[in-house]
Amino acid sequence: MKQVSASILSANWLKLGEELKRAEEAGCDCIHVDITDGHFVSNLTMGMDITRAVCNFTGLRTDVHLMIEEPGRFIAAFADTGADSITFHHEATAHPFELIREIKKHGKLAGVALDPATPVEAIEHYLDQVDLVLLVAVCVGFGGQKFIDAVDEKIKRLAKMRKDKGLHFEIQVDGGINTGNGAEKRALGVDNLVGGSMIFLSEDIKETVRLLKT
Ligand code: DX5
Ligand code: ZN
Repeated sequence: MKQVSASILSANWLKLGEELKRAEEAGCDCIHVDITDGHFVSNLTMGMDITRAVCNFTGLRTDVHLMIEEPGRFIAAFADTGADSITFHHEATAHPFELIREIKKHGKLAGVALDPATPVEAIEHYLDQVDLVLLVAVCVGFGGQKFIDAVDEKIKRLAKMRKDKGLHFEIQVDGGINTGNGAEKRALGVDNLVGGSMIFLSEDIKETVRLLKT
């Protein structure tokens, strides 16, 4: 599976509809919506209303990336926006099984995300419960940073765990991806490359997506 997700964090929000169309026409597979709370990460981005508008507008799969404390308080609200998947951070909860159950109860794909410093072994015991794993490869919450090389090892380990356990969850990598490093991350085992600046700040978005899918 070779997918590309467009994170609207780097889109021109005054022209969000046009930006979503641009991503769709360029061949992106998913729209990635980054939610922060100013606590789990020191940034404030979007909330439910923008997410709902995006979900209503785009024909693509919509992934919500919750970078918030106490994610359980917001599962119902984000499920109600029409998003297709909801991903919480492992570091933000002591009750991952309960959260996953709650996400699935709403009929959504359930994802877990890891900060760059969190080892993939931390989620080993519930990998069989999730639909996707999102490895964040930058300091969480901000676009336009450089890929942290230590994440390469995590991709390899996660892909091996998936194979050894006979599981089928999707592996996403988020942050610092560009046309220069996308292919090498794929070769390590990534299914879905998530990026903001690589898509929306690119001169030729079609060519960028084409390169990221080869
Ligand atoms: C970072 C966000 C990303 C962000 C990536 O924590 O989760 O989705 O938009 O941005 P780039 O592609 O610019 O690194
Ligand atoms: Zn993200």
